[in-house]
Amino acid sequence: MNSTDNMPQHVAIVMDGNGRWAKERGLERAAGHKAGVESCRRIVKACAKRKINVLSVFAFSSENWRRPIEEVNYLMSLFLLALSQDIESLHENNIKLRFIGDLSQLDQQLQQEIKKAEKLTQNNTGLIFVIATNYGGQWDILQASQKIAVKVAAKDLQSQDITVDCFKQHLVTHDLPDPDLLIRTSGCSRISNFYLWQLSYTELFFTDVYWPDFNEIILDEAIANFQKRERRFGFTSEQIGEYDD
Ligand code: IPE
Ligand code: IPE
Ligand code: MG
Repeated sequence: MNSTDNMPQHVAIVMDGNGRWAKERGLERAAGHKAGVESCRRIVKACAKRKINVLSVFAFSSENWRRPIEEVNYLMSLFLLALSQDIESLHENNIKLRFIGDLSQLDQQLQQEIKKAEKLTQNNTGLIFVIATNYGGQWDILQASQKIAVKVAAKDLQSQDITVDCFKQHLVTHDLPDPDLLIRTSGCSRISNFYLWQLSYTELFFTDVYWPDFNEIILDEAIANFQKRERRFGFTSEQIGEYDD
């Protein structure tokens, strides 16, 4: 495991490559998604063990509805199954579950299970496990803008008071720190409409490994790589050195 100094507080993951993992093995894409759930279970455990405060995973983007209906349906049934299978053990492990995205578009049963899972784990104090489902960074910014517009129209907020901090308060991640480290698997180096606002100063780590093959060793490699970086937030390296002393 890594040095405990300078651990990322919030790790975000774009879990990509399930389909290609399956294809390489001559399997259906569904088999890749199933293996992807196993990988996700491993990584939740690994993050909890490493005392990471927040893990966000991108499970289904607002654009993934464009996939063949059979695949979308399979993914939705897999979310429901995984949630019902894992909720007790997540709760026993003091993990707090949080779903973000436009959940109103999900199947009623899934919405109910999500509510139940969030309620059951709401007072847990361990890892906050954020699952982005029907989430899009652009959607998040738009829904924040709409909430703000309503407040301005009602004269509850002045337009000059829409600062960065004020805007942040209206995003679905308002109570979470921004990700320190974003990992994307499968060799694609893009954000694909995951956290857009929140990634402004996140360190990015890309690996060629397909999500079903992702494991603790690669997680530690990503963390070790993160720990070596100098995060400057617009300052100069010299200024950062001064703060470190
Ligand atoms: C990620 O794997 C899972 C989701 C987007 C739901 P993909 O299904 O995107 O796998 P590839 O990119 O086709 O290999
Ligand atoms: C991003 O992966 C979304 C998730 C992992 C849920 P995609 O596979 O949908 O991304 P693109 O389409 O290759 O950009
Ligand atoms: Mg993909």
